Amino acid sequence: MTDLDVTMLLGELSRAAEACRACGLGEGRIQSVFSDGRPTADLMFVGEGPGKNEDLEGLPFVGKAGKLLNHLLGEVGLERADVYISNVVKCRPPANRDPLPDEIAACKHFLADQIRLVDPAVVMTMGNFSTKLLLKTTTGITRMRGQVVPWWNRIVIPTFHPAAALRNGPKMVETMRTDFQLAVDTISLKRAQADSVGQASELPAAADSESEQLGFFT
Ligand code: URA
Repeated sequence: MTDLDVTMLLGELSRAAEACRACGLGEGRIQSVFSDGRPTADLMFVGEGPGKNEDLEGLPFVGKAGKLLNHLLGEVGLERADVYISNVVKCRPPANRDPLPDEIAACKHFLADQIRLVDPAVVMTMGNFSTKLLLKTTTGITRMRGQVVPWWNRIVIPTFHPAAALRNGPKMVETMRTDFQLAVDTISLKRAQADSVGQASELPAAADSESEQLGFFT
């Protein structure tokens, strides 16, 4: 698949999310919030769901949590345009409440398709909702963060949600910084490994997309 194909398919998916009424969140939102960043990024971030600012602007992580995300990216030498950013649910839960299990169930096929199309080498799950969804775990983020977890021919590295770090202070921000650096180092390592076995430097080798589609979140 070419980069243009990926961009076009993600565009179609984004329009499908905008038309989606599979759960109640479609009624209360201003607009769906699908993604930001580079459709062919090696590094993808998955948050929880849009808040008020995101609902207004139509982009993920544009409020205070987004400013911290941008700052942490900058500290490891990246910009938002270098990575792909999305959420577990694409529409704002009312009053910023947690997304409900049926809302996550109705929405997760969009995230599965995004991961399959973007095909990142590393996915950073931010907070409990995305970490539990991808890794099918009930273990909380405090114990999961900083682990390098092999996942469908990729790596998942859980970290705290930036909103939690804003509430909890500099120590948690420092921990996130460590996790972000780990993600960057993991990508460099995968690239070096791919180069050393004479493969194209593109990351990673495409996995079996059919089994991925069936299996990511089932
Ligand atoms: N929190 C999230 O989980 N996602 C956003 O897009 C913004 C805040």
